Amino acid sequence: MFNRILFGFFSFFSTFVLSALGAPPYAMRISCGARQNVYTPPTNTLWYKDFAYTGGIPANATRPSFITPPLSTLRYFPLSEGPENCYIIHRVPTGHYSVRMFFGLVDDPNFDNEPLFDISVENTLIYSLSTGWSSSDNEQVFAEALVFLIDGTASLCFHSTGHGDPAVLSIEILQVDDKAYNFGPLFGQGTILRTVKRLSCGAGKPKFDEDYSGNQWGGDRFWNPVKTFGQGSDKAISTESSINKASASPNFYPKALYQTALVSTDTEPDLTYTMDVEPNSNYSIWLHFAEIDSLVTGARQRVFDILINSDIAFKAIDVVGMSGGINTALVLNTTVAVNGRTLTITLRAANGNHAIISAIEVFQIIVAEAKTLPNEVSALQSLKSALELPHRFGWNGDPCVPQQHPWSGADCHFDSSKSKWFIDGLGLDNQGLRGFLPADISRLAHLQSINFSGNSIHGAIPSLLGTISGLEILDLSHNFFNGSIPESLGQLSLLQILNLNSNKLSGKVPAALGGMLLHRASFNFTDNAGLCGIPGLPTCGPHLSAGAKVGIGFASCIILLLAVVCSMCWWKRRQNILRTQKLAAREAPYAKARTNFSRDVQMTIHHPRIASENGPSLLS
Ligand SMILES: *[C@@H]1O[C@H](CO)[C@@H](O)[C@H](O)[C@H]1NC(C)=O
Ligand SMILES: *[C@@H]1O[C@H](CO)[C@@H](O)[C@H](O)[C@H]1NC(C)=O
Ligand SMILES: *[C@@H]1O[C@H](CO)[C@@H](O)[C@H](O)[C@H]1NC(C)=O
Ligand SMILES: *[C@@H]1O[C@H](CO)[C@@H](O)[C@H](O)[C@H]1NC(C)=O
Ligand SMILES: *[C@@H]1O[C@H](CO)[C@@H](O)[C@H](O)[C@H]1NC(C)=O
Ligand SMILES: *[C@@H]1O[C@H](CO)[C@@H](O)[C@H](O)[C@H]1NC(C)=O
Repeated sequence: MFNRILFGFFSFFSTFVLSALGAPPYAMRISCGARQNVYTPPTNTLWYKDFAYTGGIPANATRPSFITPPLSTLRYFPLSEGPENCYIIHRVPTGHYSVRMFFGLVDDPNFDNEPLFDISVENTLIYSLSTGWSSSDNEQVFAEALVFLIDGTASLCFHSTGHGDPAVLSIEILQVDDKAYNFGPLFGQGTILRTVKRLSCGAGKPKFDEDYSGNQWGGDRFWNPVKTFGQGSDKAISTESSINKASASPNFYPKALYQTALVSTDTEPDLTYTMDVEPNSNYSIWLHFAEIDSLVTGARQRVFDILINSDIAFKAIDVVGMSGGINTALVLNTTVAVNGRTLTITLRAANGNHAIISAIEVFQIIVAEAKTLPNEVSALQSLKSALELPHRFGWNGDPCVPQQHPWSGADCHFDSSKSKWFIDGLGLDNQGLRGFLPADISRLAHLQSINFSGNSIHGAIPSLLGTISGLEILDLSHNFFNGSIPESLGQLSLLQILNLNSNKLSGKVPAALGGMLLHRASFNFTDNAGLCGIPGLPTCGPHLSAGAKVGIGFASCIILLLAVVCSMCWWKRRQNILRTQKLAAREAPYAKARTNFSRDVQMTIHHPRIASENGPSLLS
C-alpha cells in the first residue's frame, strides 16, 4: 500500500515535472535485426539498431501488412535457442507506457510462413497470434499494451508454441501520461490494457498519431479506418473545421480523429458495430464523438442511447449538450465483462434521430502477473551459467510467469502473503549438464526437492546446500561430484531421500546423516571413490595426531625388524637341520631333498610381505 502511494506520488511528480518543462516523453524504438540505426518518414523517427535481446538470429523481413513501420529487418528465435526469448530494456524511467511490437516474416522461401506464438509484457501473457495475422489486410500484425514500468526495466518476451519461430520486426516503448486511459478503480500497476481495436470512423486511410500530427504523449496510436459498420445503412461524413478539447491531458487525442464520423440514416437509425473478442474477459471501451454534421446546430437535436452487448451503457447521449458545443470532442468510457466471443456496440437513436460516432477504442483488461522473488531469479541465472544449461532450455524472462510458459526444470509455488512466486523444486535429471554446482543454489531458500541425477556435473557438493532447511529430496546420483560430503548436510532435518551414489565422493559421511537413517530416511552412497563412517559403509581409519602417527610408524618399524630377525633365526635353524638331514640320509633320492628346500625358501620370503601389508593400513 505504502509502495503504491509512494509510486503514485513519484509518478505524478515526474510526469508533472516533465510536462511542465515541456520535456518530451521517454521513447525507445528498436528496429529488430538492424545493424545500423534507421530513420523513417514522416518525421524522421529514430529506430535504434538491434540490442537488448536474449538470443535469436537477424534476418531480412517481409512486412506482411500495410501498417507495419517501413523497416527491412527482423529477429527470429528458433526453438534451438529455447522456447522463450525476450527483449529486456534497462534504464527505463518509472512511468506509464504504451508498449508495441510489430511482427514480420523471414524473407526466405525456405521458411514456413506465418509463425504463431505468444507474447508477454512484464511477464504477463497479453496476446496469442492466431492464423491469418500475416494476411495483408489484417491489422493484427502488432501487439500493444498500456503498462506501468516500475523497476527500471521493460521485459517483452516471445514464447514458442510449436508453430514456427517467433519473428519480431520492431519494439516501441513510448511513455504516456500516468493517468492515460484511467478506466476506473482497477486502473494502475495491477492491470495491463491490451489494445484490441482502434477505429477511426469515416476515415479513408490508416493513420498513426504521428501522421495526424498528434501530441507525443499520446503514444503514437494506430487508427484503423472504417468507412461503414457493414449494414450499408450508415454514411461517412467529414469536416475541415477545427475541433475543440481534443488534444487534452491525459489522452491527447489527435484533432483530426474527430474530423470524420459515421452517422446512421433513415433506413436504419441505429449504428451497430460487432467485433470478435476473447471470451470471459473484461473490456474497457472508449467512445469518441464530436458533432460535425452541419444539420445539427444545438443541444438536444441529436439524442441516442448506447448499448453494449444489449445492456444499456449510456442513456440519452446528447453530444452537443455534453461537450459544450458543435465541433467539440466528447469521450465516454465504460467497462464491461464479456462471456461470449463477440462484443457489440449499438448506438440506438431516439425517435426521428440519427446516431453519430467518430472513433472506438477497445482494450482487454488483463490482471498483471506477480513476479518471482528477484533473489531466486538471479540464483537460477547463476545456476544456468555454472551448470552450462543447454541452449534449448532458454531460461529467459521470469522463471514462473507468465504461468502458461514457466521455465522447464523449475517448479514454482505462489506465496500469496508476499504476492511473489518462488522455486520449490529443481528437476534437471538426465539433461547433459556438464558444469559445476555453484554455492548460489543456496539462495533458492524454499527448495524442497533437487534432482540432478544422470548428468556430468563435477567438483564439490557446495557446503551451503546445508542451509536450505526445507530440503526433503536431494538426488545428485550418477555425476562426477568429488571431495567429501559437506558436514552441513547433516543439518537438513527434513531430508528423506539422499542419493549420492555413482559419484567420486570420498571421506567420512557426516555422522548426523547416519542418525537420520534410523528415522526411515533413504540414503544411497554406493559406487563412490571411498566413503566411510556410518552403518553399512566401512569404518573410517581413526583420526590420529602427528605424535601418534610417529609412534605407530616407529612401532611398525620395530615389528618389521623383529619379524626379519625372527625369520633369519628360523632360517639359520632350518639350515642347520638341513645339514644334519643331508649328513644322515646320503642314500635318499636327490630330488626329494630339493623340493623341501624350495618350499622352505618361499615361506621365509612370505613373512616380511605380511608385515609390510599390515603397516600402512594402521597408518591410514
Ligand atoms: C538482406 O538484404 C540485403 C540487401 O537488401 C542483402 O545485401 C543481404 O544479403 C540480405 N541478407 C540476407 C541474409 O538475405
Ligand atoms: C472513465 O470512466 C470512469 C468510470 O466509469 C470514470 O471514473 C473516469 O473518470 C472515466 N475516465 C475518463 C478519462 O473519462
Ligand atoms: C472482471 O472484473 C470483475 C470486477 O470488476 C472481476 O470480479 C472479474 O474477476 C473480472 N473478470 C476477469 C476475467 O478478469
Ligand atoms: C531423479 O531422476 C532420476 C532420473 O530421471 C530418477 O530415476 C530418480 O527416481 C529421481 N530421484 C528421485 C529422488 O525422485
Ligand atoms: C575434484 O575434481 C576437480 C576437477 O574436476 C579437481 O580440480 C579437484 O581438485 C578435485 N577435488 C578433490 C577434493 O579431489
Ligand atoms: C544405490 O545405487 C546403486 C547404483 O549406484 C544401485 O545399484 C542400488 O540399487 C541403489 N540402492 C538402493 C537401496 O536404491
